[in-house]
Amino acid sequence: MPSPVSSLHQPPVADVTNASQAAADPAKDKKPTVLESHGYILGKTIGNGSYATVRMAKSERHGGNVAIKIVSKFSAPADYLKKFLPREIEVVKGLRHSNLIRFLQAIETTHRVYIIMEYAENGSLLDIIRKDQCIDESRSRKWFRQLVNAIDYCHERGVVHRDVKCENLLMDDGWNVKLSDFGFARGHMRPKSGQAILSETYCGSYAYASPEILRGIPYQPQYADIWSMGVVLFAMVFGRLPFDDSNYKELIKQVSSKVVFPKEPKISVSCKSLINKILAPLKSRIRISGIRTDGWFAYDEDQAGSSKDRKSVVSEPDDERKLSVDPDTIVPPDLITKQQLESKSRPRGPRRDSTDEEETVKTEEPHGSDTKSDDNKRK
Ligand SMILES: Nc1ncnc2c1ncn2[C@@H]1O[C@H](COP(=O)(O)OP(=O)(O)O)[C@@H](O)[C@H]1O
Ligand SMILES: [Mg+2]
Repeated sequence: MPSPVSSLHQPPVADVTNASQAAADPAKDKKPTVLESHGYILGKTIGNGSYATVRMAKSERHGGNVAIKIVSKFSAPADYLKKFLPREIEVVKGLRHSNLIRFLQAIETTHRVYIIMEYAENGSLLDIIRKDQCIDESRSRKWFRQLVNAIDYCHERGVVHRDVKCENLLMDDGWNVKLSDFGFARGHMRPKSGQAILSETYCGSYAYASPEILRGIPYQPQYADIWSMGVVLFAMVFGRLPFDDSNYKELIKQVSSKVVFPKEPKISVSCKSLINKILAPLKSRIRISGIRTDGWFAYDEDQAGSSKDRKSVVSEPDDERKLSVDPDTIVPPDLITKQQLESKSRPRGPRRDSTDEEETVKTEEPHGSDTKSDDNKRK
């Protein structure tokens, strides 16, 4: 089985006891846990993923709090451990952008994989929508721009995210979006000699999946990410999702028809116009360059008083979407959701509990982390 942490720095091989146990047990003469030996003091649980637990930790080296995604090799599904987790680490190692959760280190032990990353202290966009019901256009614009910047940066580097959704947009201490969870991401997707590379892994969440994914057609993942961003924008301004994913046939119908906007809250025509341009059939779907020049997106709030800008009302594009396929005849693709991977999960071998000893196998750092620019974080 390939190792989730694929390229190495020399691992400090430690004969150590389990991490979570020691956090609860401060007995003096205990050997340091793997995490402690790497300078992390585990704190509270901040997220329970499908098969990962995310905990806060303190780290002197990183100058404060970090988040640690802890994946148990004994309970996570084989597909995830072999395919998606190694990709996640490989991809995040090479990314550094102010709207992406920054990857700090990965540690693989005999029992677990730890992904150490920047901590986002203000929860997820989903938490905010639940609390505030919906987000005004001005805040939505700010966060949507940050999301577009994050995705544009990834796509420029050949990385596609494939799981853009409100739960995966975290908020830092300054209420800036930090895109996280590269669990379904892929690298090396930049078109080669003008030829787009298609994805055939249908992954993500139904409610955020583009029509081409839902139909199980090999798809250009960059355009699917754009679609998901449109679902996020809709969710922000209306406080609900545009498509109901409880019934596949209905879902196919909905994503193939014109977007239905709720009457409340009242949202500007220009915002709805942008949503329409994003949640559009593949052929007419707007690209990131088009989003950037869109009237609502580019609207300058500092000029908001001027009458010129008030009429940034754009007529809605006349898209002629028709249901080109009969939803009764389409077979739902085997969309890989985290839940589905989880349901395939089989405990392999004896299940270890947290009192077992584990040893470091490998550690991995971000690309370029030995350069000076990163060193200010270290001391
Ligand atoms: N860096 C982080 N800072 C703060 N909370 C986080 C961080 N990473 C993850 N979380 C929390 O843990 C949850 C699960 O993490 P995620 O990486 O999305 O795993 P999963 O693959 O299970 O969705 C997130 O939805 C979020 O609530
Ligand atoms: Mg997630």
